[in-house]
Amino acid sequence: MTLHVVLCLILGPGCSSLGSGAFMEHGPFQPGDNGLLVKNGYSWNLESNMLYVESLIGVGFSYSNTSSDYLRWNDTQTAKDNLRFLINWLEEFPNYKDSELFLTGESYAGHYIPQLAALLMEYNKNPNIKPIKLRAIALGNPLLDLDTSVLAGDYLWSYGAISDETLMLRKTVCNDSKYLHEYVHWKLSQECKDVFNRASDEISLRCVAYDDLLLPNCLSSSSAEQFWPKGKHGKIHAMAS
Ligand SMILES: *[C@@H]1O[C@H](CO)[C@@H](O)[C@H](O)[C@H]1NC(C)=O
Ligand SMILES: *[C@@H]1O[C@H](CO)[C@@H](O)[C@H](O)[C@H]1NC(C)=O
Ligand SMILES: *[C@@H]1O[C@H](CO)[C@@H](O)[C@H](O)[C@H]1NC(C)=O
Repeated sequence: MTLHVVLCLILGPGCSSLGSGAFMEHGPFQPGDNGLLVKNGYSWNLESNMLYVESLIGVGFSYSNTSSDYLRWNDTQTAKDNLRFLINWLEEFPNYKDSELFLTGESYAGHYIPQLAALLMEYNKNPNIKPIKLRAIALGNPLLDLDTSVLAGDYLWSYGAISDETLMLRKTVCNDSKYLHEYVHWKLSQECKDVFNRASDEISLRCVAYDDLLLPNCLSSSSAEQFWPKGKHGKIHAMAS
């Protein structure tokens, strides 16, 4: 049986699939104490061949010797680069040409993966090539667009992380969608700043981490450790937040 191939693109422009995906999430090894690597019992490579791609140019180990390449990037170009990578990789490792391919990713990969999949399906229509066997795509907490994918107010409230009043402000004054639209255009309004500062104050007072509501954040490290899987993820989370 040929194991399938999972190509994994993690997080947004600037985030390393190797650093985040392979070493913090589902690769075979994770950083342990004293700078040593420990085996990850839940590694995805127990089920499939994993291909972590540092995308786009300039992220992680990915580089170009042409400096203008660093200025031309956008989603269209990224999808093209990723397809070219995949085609060349299959040329380099032809054993995998008959494997089914799964494209996976999280967060901003909500853009990268569907766009790469669409381009790949176009490529497959070419009569002179051996089609790449794209089987499925999978997205985790994907950023699809700024209007539907980001509204976190109700969720934070349902965990008791923000108050009734703050939830109401997020619904009436500034929701996540408005905040992000302003933020990405460098036009953050005072009202949005106020609402989101208020939320983050409440979240930290309630001893939860913004990016992991189940992780107790204010306990002494020794009592908190019992909640952390083997202690090692907790350290990574504590560093990341
Ligand atoms: C880029 O430049 C470095 C240093 O000169 C060289 O080792 C490397 O092979 C070059 N890479 C490519 C893709 O041309
Ligand atoms: C993306 O970048 C490429 C290469 O620089 C350029 O040809 C293309 O017009 C850009 N696309 C968009 C939507 O900006
Ligand atoms: C978020 O806020 C914007 C701007 O006030 C509004 O147009 C939009 O309908 C709101 N979204 C939701 C889901 O409430």
